[in-house]
Amino acid sequence: MTIDFDRFQKSLLDSFCKREALWKVHDAVRVYDESALPLVIEKFKDYAFLTWRGEVLTQFEEQRLAHNLKTVWSKVFDAPIQAASLLHRPKANLAFKESDTRWILGGVSAERSLWVKEWGLPYQIRFMGHAHPGLFLDHRELRRLLSEENADGGRVLNLFAFTGSLGLAGLHGGYESLDQVDISKPNLEWIRENFREHTKVHSCEKRMQVFAGDAEFFIQRSIKREEKYDAIFCDPPSFARKKTGEVFSVLKSYPTLIENCLRLLNQEGLFMFSANLEGITHALIEGEVNKFARILGLGRPTFKRLSGDKDEFESSKGGMCGVIAKFR
Ligand SMILES: C[S@@+](CC[C@H](N)C(=O)[O-])C[C@H]1O[C@@H](n2cnc3c(N)ncnc32)[C@H](O)[C@@H]1O
Repeated sequence: MTIDFDRFQKSLLDSFCKREALWKVHDAVRVYDESALPLVIEKFKDYAFLTWRGEVLTQFEEQRLAHNLKTVWSKVFDAPIQAASLLHRPKANLAFKESDTRWILGGVSAERSLWVKEWGLPYQIRFMGHAHPGLFLDHRELRRLLSEENADGGRVLNLFAFTGSLGLAGLHGGYESLDQVDISKPNLEWIRENFREHTKVHSCEKRMQVFAGDAEFFIQRSIKREEKYDAIFCDPPSFARKKTGEVFSVLKSYPTLIENCLRLLNQEGLFMFSANLEGITHALIEGEVNKFARILGLGRPTFKRLSGDKDEFESSKGGMCGVIAKFR
């Protein structure tokens, strides 16, 4: 594709200025979302993580992208940009290679990771070697709600945990122990690192266990063992390749996932389901929750609907769609 860099620079400036109310308050903000180019830019303090969703860029195009970013950044923000990493991630690509991320600004001396705070809680952002920086920004409001839950102890299960952020927000919301499940072993190490920092901000002791493996297998095994949880968070990917070679699809799996999660939920528990795929709507999720809650005798929940902030995620198709169901 031919990139019109003049148009890009203008749209970058517009996007940064439009989101002023956000970046003035938050360490971690999406500052650009596919306005003129298939590009997402997330700002973590004075660092940027760029995700490029188009055809592979040439070195010259990467340099011009970096130059434009640096110029506009210096016009808008008080501090200069320290470094920017770029992830090449064409839309249909499920596989990820370490070489898909590289520095386009800052380079070798730049930090590979950085701690940011959100609602007073620390999360580690990684710029190199991962398909995502580690914090889904469209979940910011969800993490706030979970961290303000005022639960009086109890067990949390966080499925498809990634870096564990939803579970960790839940611990801050008063739950006492947390099981985090993810299929990727490197993610579990990231979760542990985040947990270590989180324990420094809690006034009482919290417990966390991590499980490496398939979430659906973990759920089945827990049902057999008659385990129960007071809160369950389930935020699956849209698609993922399993170890068996099969492709997990949330559109196919969400009714069974919801049913089986509810089998593990205590009476008066909290259930959160979210997805990011056109076709999965709040009404669909609530319909499944109501259906299985009735069958399983959990009663009628109250629902809270969540979506990513429109201004911040302006041209994302579909977007984050989450529902918190409270059975109390
Ligand atoms: C959409 S992310 C989850 C985001 C996470 N809830 C958060 O808020 O940061 C998807 C995660 O699911 C994990 N995953 C993919 N397939 C899985 C499976 N079959 N079982 C468990 N985890 C899986 C991936 O490793 C990835 O970390």
